[in-house]
Amino acid sequence: MNTSALHAQLSHTLRQVNLPTLGTHYQGKVRDTYRQKDRLILVTSDRLSAFDHVLTTIPFKGEILNRLATFWFERTKHVVPNHILDVPDPNVTVARACEPFAIEMVVRGYLTGSLWRDYQKGTHTAYGLPFPAGLRKDEVFPEPIITPSTKAQYGQHDEPISEAEILSRGLASPRDWARLTEAAKALFAEGQKWARTRGLILVDTKYEFGKVGDDLYVIDEIHTPDSSRYWVADEYEARFTKGEDQRMLDKENIRQWLIRERNFQGHGTPPVIPDEVRVDLATKYLTAYERITGTELKLEPGDVHARIEKNLRAAGYL
Ligand SMILES: Nc1ncnc2c1ncn2[C@@H]1O[C@H](COP(=O)(O)OP(=O)(O)O)[C@@H](O)[C@H]1O
Ligand SMILES: [Mg+2]
Repeated sequence: MNTSALHAQLSHTLRQVNLPTLGTHYQGKVRDTYRQKDRLILVTSDRLSAFDHVLTTIPFKGEILNRLATFWFERTKHVVPNHILDVPDPNVTVARACEPFAIEMVVRGYLTGSLWRDYQKGTHTAYGLPFPAGLRKDEVFPEPIITPSTKAQYGQHDEPISEAEILSRGLASPRDWARLTEAAKALFAEGQKWARTRGLILVDTKYEFGKVGDDLYVIDEIHTPDSSRYWVADEYEARFTKGEDQRMLDKENIRQWLIRERNFQGHGTPPVIPDEVRVDLATKYLTAYERITGTELKLEPGDVHARIEKNLRAAGYL
């Protein structure tokens, strides 16, 4: 899809979802969730969030993210069962409603991003993990590590939390904590394996889990560029050796733009994002989809909300 088609889609992006008959509505940063008895209708909007603020919309972002999450859930369902029941529209997932754990399971293969920023400031100790001194930016860990965080309310920041605190605050039982760490590591290993075959490094990611009865499910989204960091594999060594930034396929692009161009790291009023930057990000999301899955994506321009309604009606959800 060329840049002018992406520009044209700027006025059709899905900012708000208005389908009140679908169920009880909850608007998250990126998804609009409708709760029915034992299932959720998750509509992925085109909203872009960074540093826990919604900043703008990006053409086709919701569709690309939902398609990528669906791709990854399908590829990993033999490793950990997931919440997907149906995908009636490219932006919509019908999911099993689970009792979510109030923790985000962040798995990291490399010292980068916010952890690297914390490590330099010396504020990386909150996870209760031993970090040797003298590590370098983007250095690979001997084994992937888990740096969990709390799930914050809108406008607040997710806070790092240690295993000891998760257990003492009862956010997970010792048995569930063991299952969560095992599931997160297994999913990450599967993701890294596939990413390698595509010439990519899955650098780090965030999982959410929930339960139905005693059964554990991975929920929300997995291995999308919003929840994960990807680098181009064959450039890793040379860039690491020279101390250069990695070539990345992910949301760190916009985080760095915000820090560099607007001096914004989540505090104060979020800046306005110019249309050129929105279109450029759309291209990045599309490229990420095609690099990760190895398939081309034909996007249909037009009114996303109208198409969702049509598809939900046809599938009997409306
Ligand atoms: N299967 C599920 N069961 C229960 N909750 C879920 C499930 N899948 C996703 N969620 C929750 O729905 C919300 C999705 O919307 P999102 O925009 O990601 O919200 P947030 O701003 O909280 O990240 C999240 O709070 C996520 O934890
Ligand atoms: Mg979320």
